[in-house]
Amino acid sequence: MRRGSILTMLLIGAVAFLATAAVALFIPWLPDQASREREGIDLTFWLATWICIGIFAVVAAVIGYSFLKFRVRPDDDSDGPPIHGHTGLEIAWTAVPFVLVVALGVVSAVVLTQNDRARGANPNEVAVTAEQFAWTFEHPNGVTSGTLRIPIGRSTVLRLSSRDVIHSFWVPEFGQKKDAVPGIETRLVITPKRTGTFPVICTELCGLGHSLMRSRVIVMTQQEYASWLEEEGGGQAAGTEPEGASVFAEAGCGGCHAFAPAESTAQVGPSLDGLPDDPQFVRTSIVEPDAELAEGFQAGVMPRTYGEQLSDRELDALVQYLLGGSQ
Ligand code: CUA
Repeated sequence: MRRGSILTMLLIGAVAFLATAAVALFIPWLPDQASREREGIDLTFWLATWICIGIFAVVAAVIGYSFLKFRVRPDDDSDGPPIHGHTGLEIAWTAVPFVLVVALGVVSAVVLTQNDRARGANPNEVAVTAEQFAWTFEHPNGVTSGTLRIPIGRSTVLRLSSRDVIHSFWVPEFGQKKDAVPGIETRLVITPKRTGTFPVICTELCGLGHSLMRSRVIVMTQQEYASWLEEEGGGQAAGTEPEGASVFAEAGCGGCHAFAPAESTAQVGPSLDGLPDDPQFVRTSIVEPDAELAEGFQAGVMPRTYGEQLSDRELDALVQYLLGGSQ
């Protein structure tokens, strides 16, 4: 092969490589990195990306060169030369992808194994229950809430289960996904390295309300977390009157409903501002959401489990709160 041909191919390959690398590097494809486990996931992601960019550059170089060099002239009706394969080339294009795919498999297996291991002797534990279409998180102090709270810098083991169909727990900033499967318990380890609030998203098509099955995870400092555990745990156990506002917050009502006193503006379900002054109707609507549907809303979207999840006193407090009777 002539020196000029190799130079042309190198040049085309370099241009293809730089252009694709720029697209990979200068567009923020990934969400912010907020957990230790994400580091390994990102490593795997970038390994696969760089392999793809390399292969693309090689293919682009050969195609580009062929396009320039072997283009058919307008008056050329002849056939190409009969070629009977090239053993060296065939061995190369079998062996190289084999090595690359095995490397990707090994790196992924190592990352997944490492990410399954909780760091530190004393991991935090939270039980996660998924149902159509809501998440419930039971924290170490017994506080059950629609919002997940975990401490920074310490591993939290999520024990996932489902009440009905398969759901999947995903926080983009943490990088990992894990299915919640009825009948078995799955686990997921998260070691946050940034405080803040991140979305929890269901990534398994689980029914009519799948796209609405979202919540939040709040990553707190270890001191904040310890005092939150103590305060909230103590508050619920002491047998104090439940407050409507906190029942509203903990059951996650604001995730789907607008309600001015709670400053929620969600529009997934009907607005709770200006409800008819009828405690029985409000209570029934919480416990049996499909009994009387508001106009323009579908049955089967709101979980039918609040009757079991909330105590009678909590329900009373919530109804009062929604009717403006108490804070
Ligand atoms: Cu739960 Cu999709």
